[in-house]
Amino acid sequence: MTDLALPAADLFDTWADCVREFGDDRRDGSGDWQIEHFGADRATFDALLEICRTEADPTSTLPEGHVHCDYYWIVEGGEDADDPTERGLIGFMAVRHSIDTEFLRTLGGHIGYSIRPSRRRRGHASRALGLALDRAREVGLDRVLITCDPDNVGSARVIEGQGGVLDIAPSDNCRYWITL
Ligand SMILES: CC(C)(COP(=O)(O)OP(=O)(O)OC[C@H]1O[C@@H](n2cnc3c(N)ncnc32)[C@H](O)[C@@H]1OP(=O)(O)O)[C@@H](O)C(=O)NCCC(=O)NCCS
Repeated sequence: MTDLALPAADLFDTWADCVREFGDDRRDGSGDWQIEHFGADRATFDALLEICRTEADPTSTLPEGHVHCDYYWIVEGGEDADDPTERGLIGFMAVRHSIDTEFLRTLGGHIGYSIRPSRRRRGHASRALGLALDRAREVGLDRVLITCDPDNVGSARVIEGQGGVLDIAPSDNCRYWITL
């Protein structure tokens, strides 16, 4: 099964394990771009938790270039799914409440995600995106923009599988809209 968990302090060990496995691979949806020396360490984790808390709070005032955003940690689990500490973290998901910056309108889009390498090709990203679209509806969005590189076949299939319709495909960026 695939689920979305809110970032939480008791998930440090599985978060760190997940970050280590990503290595230098891209961690879309993790919020890592906001942390200068991102690593699988406690300082990064604590800073990230604070960022996730602040950005998810629609009443918080954010720095220029930031938008409110719900961060989720994608988890897989079995019988113990009621206890998040029993569930392994397998990826990241960010659901932005708006795309009110030039970067997000052109490149970033509303939603970003990634799955740790050892758990890919098992349907996790597709299911996690489906759950993220439910969250986007709750935020009040009626359509979302999701972008990917033209050579990112996996991500394109994930988006199309969830109803993404290609808007325009300039050479360096494919833009998909999903109506909610
Ligand atoms: C892209 C990514 C999120 C896909 O995650 P995933 O959990 O492997 O995706 P899924 O298992 O849900 O796969 C969905 C579909 O894409 C296909 N697919 C996945 N990765 C693929 C690949 N590398 N090449 C070809 N097809 C691929 C799957 O076979 C599946 O096909 P189907 O719809 O016919 O069943 C993952 O590879 C990743 O984290 N990449 C790095 C970060 C990234 O690119 N994020 C997206 C930014 S736009």
